[in-house]
Amino acid sequence: MSRSILFYLMVDLSLCVKETRILAAKTLHDSGIQDILILEANSKIGGRIHSVQFRGHTVELGANWVIGGGPRSNHLYEIASKLNLKTYLSDYGNISANIYKQEGGLYPKHIVSAALEVAETRDQFCTSFSTRLSAPGHDRDDVSILVSQRLFKEVPTTPLDMVIDYFYNDYEDAEPPRVTSLKNTIPRYEFLDFGDQTYFLADSRGFESILIYIAKQFLSHKHEVIRDQRLKLNKVVREINYSKSGVQVKTEDGSVYQAKYVIVSVSVGVLQSDLIVFKPHLPQWKTQAIYEFDMAVYTKIFLRFPYKFWPSGPETEFFLYAHEKRGYYPIWQHLETEMPGSNILFVTVTDEEAKRIEQQQDIKIQEEIMDVLKKMFGNDIPEPDEILIPRWWSNRFFKGSFSNWPIGYSQRRHMQLKEPVGRIYFSGEHTYSRYLGYADAAYFAGIETANHLIRCIKHEKYCNGYDRHSTIDRLHNEDPYDPDA
Ligand SMILES: *[C@@H]1O[C@H](CO)[C@@H](O)[C@H](O)[C@H]1NC(C)=O
Ligand SMILES: *[C@@H]1O[C@H](CO)[C@@H](O)[C@H](O)[C@H]1NC(C)=O
Repeated sequence: MSRSILFYLMVDLSLCVKETRILAAKTLHDSGIQDILILEANSKIGGRIHSVQFRGHTVELGANWVIGGGPRSNHLYEIASKLNLKTYLSDYGNISANIYKQEGGLYPKHIVSAALEVAETRDQFCTSFSTRLSAPGHDRDDVSILVSQRLFKEVPTTPLDMVIDYFYNDYEDAEPPRVTSLKNTIPRYEFLDFGDQTYFLADSRGFESILIYIAKQFLSHKHEVIRDQRLKLNKVVREINYSKSGVQVKTEDGSVYQAKYVIVSVSVGVLQSDLIVFKPHLPQWKTQAIYEFDMAVYTKIFLRFPYKFWPSGPETEFFLYAHEKRGYYPIWQHLETEMPGSNILFVTVTDEEAKRIEQQQDIKIQEEIMDVLKKMFGNDIPEPDEILIPRWWSNRFFKGSFSNWPIGYSQRRHMQLKEPVGRIYFSGEHTYSRYLGYADAAYFAGIETANHLIRCIKHEKYCNGYDRHSTIDRLHNEDPYDPDA
């Protein structure tokens, strides 16, 4: 066997991402296992960390925020600081003055403030309720976030309350409270651990430069370009044939690779699709763990206008549009602070709306968006020069933006989601429950899976299954770099 490990990093947004494969590869490399191969389906690394040029500005189709300033240090935030990447504190403090009614006009500030107060108290209730459900010795059944809201006796029903609820929940989970598990999503550990400050990254080098920085530590490179024999781009894995003695991987272009082990770091959305055929089929427990999990869709649509017609200046960056149809072009952001004079706006949509929108032609989406903007800013506004619509859901290499934990999915199932099948290891943002959906999860998942594989290579008795005492659930996921953990 020429390769000891074949590391299949195929693809890995908002917050989301994929540096899983790079971190897994780096962890193996650092432990002395250097005979690795990284197969990447795209023409560049990064997956759901994806920076693109839009009218002379770098915008992020995927992961965009870094979280920092909390009790636990955040490696992505630190690398961003080290590289002097430009980040901007997202200030939502003035949102009460920036919510538009369906037919236009702003809601009076005192009305929004009262609605926000209810949402905040409800959110606190959900947090303490979730903590009680999970209290040691009280392994009570999980409920959805919506059920927890019902228990609080305040379920959002008006357009204003719904858009605020969306801002609290869907804007993070990319799925509605009806679907999302309370116990496994709330409290939001990424903010508890890393700080409740989120920094919007807007730098000409892109969010990707964080990943390239990490990759450069172990892959040969020239300047910012990775040129390492062990990284193969545009290699779409279609078949993984595994047995007790090894693994054979076939790619779309007809190449065949042999390896002792593989790490599959494709999204759970891709695992649910038929892109990769496993021979023999994955066992029922594994397939069920994959199919029962959720791949959510979170889409940022960018628009560039000939001039700006929206309020700018401090504390106007974020504005919300309330509509009777929950999630209809709800969350807006201008980039006047980050990119002065760029005249770029973007709107975030998720879930079923994102899927509906994705299936239409750009021009049709632009028409819908212009109708919404006209409601907010009047009919006398220009058409955009350009519109950029990521289609994460239809893209066969992603099938969505990031994972979400649905109600009814047990922690045991989640262990099975990351459990190896023979010589195939599974990794990715979806396998790291503490920060599920975030770039941070992708980061730690790569390290965790690689460490698991290293243990197996070094001591065969560890090959079957995770050590259930060290990595059980999100409450116990530990920062593998934290000396105190
Ligand atoms: C699977 O791989 C083995 C070698 O590892 C090979 O002998 C066998 O023919 C392959 N099976 C298929 C269906 O490709
Ligand atoms: C808050 O938002 C309103 C409406 O966009 C804006 O007029 C005001 O300048 C913003 N900032 C503060 C500090 O109120």
